[in-house]
Amino acid sequence: MFSHDLLNHIKNAKSIVALTGAGISAESGVPTFRGENGLWKNHKPEELANAQAFLRNPKLVWEWYHYRRDIINKVNPNPGHYALVKLEEYSPEFTLITQNVDNLHKLAGSRNIKELHGNIMRNRCVDCNRRYEINEIPDSDIPRCSCGGMIRPDVVLFGDLLPADALNESIYAARNCDLFMSIGTSALVQPAASLPIEAKNYGAYVVEINFEKTVISSLVDVSIPGKSGEILPELIKALGIE
Ligand code: OAD
Repeated sequence: MFSHDLLNHIKNAKSIVALTGAGISAESGVPTFRGENGLWKNHKPEELANAQAFLRNPKLVWEWYHYRRDIINKVNPNPGHYALVKLEEYSPEFTLITQNVDNLHKLAGSRNIKELHGNIMRNRCVDCNRRYEINEIPDSDIPRCSCGGMIRPDVVLFGDLLPADALNESIYAARNCDLFMSIGTSALVQPAASLPIEAKNYGAYVVEINFEKTVISSLVDVSIPGKSGEILPELIKALGIE
């Protein structure tokens, strides 16, 4: 299933980066953003995960995040998440960059995680930036901070800047790794989407795992078609580190 070339690149890599998207959590039961189950009440993710939309219609955006949190609260990491933990233990240096806000990599046991799009379990006031745990949010359609400002999920919405540290560390890791894996992402949302290309331009061997072709499939060194919850455990097995 895996070429010697790929296995040798993994075995010899001093530094590995994995970039994950919604696809890695699909087998846990978290819907992806695009594709069949991507729409929620006929809204595209760009219309809901949107800073302007939140200010215009916070009730609708909160409803979507409550819906997503309810799903995430009920699910568990899958074999794909756990295989990446094994790969982290195996590799001299390993960085896991995720666009997911679902906390599943952390729950699985991954350690060096860069959360590019925040974390759905955190919240903050849009005015004073006070942080709120989920159980501290006032029970209201449009929860408000003690300062009067609106509370919003502490995730990156379209129109927001990405957390600077996570972004800079991700770019650095992509430029300095020997092997880059793009897993379960449509590679459509910037700046995360340019990380595999950045890695390739800086000399890394780039692998994609996705059950469909993406905009980067023709640019990577190896594109492995299939589900990450099946491919990644097979890969770990082939490396003898299951
Ligand atoms: P998408 O929904 O755009 O893409 C998910 C990708 O995962 C698709 O290419 C699927 O083919 C693939 N996929 C689905 N199930 C899979 C499986 N079991 N194994 C392997 N691949 C699988 O999700 P992202 O690329 O993560 O941003 O989307 C990027 C960003 O767009 C999200 O972080 C979010 C969204 O709007 C914000 O909210 C800011």
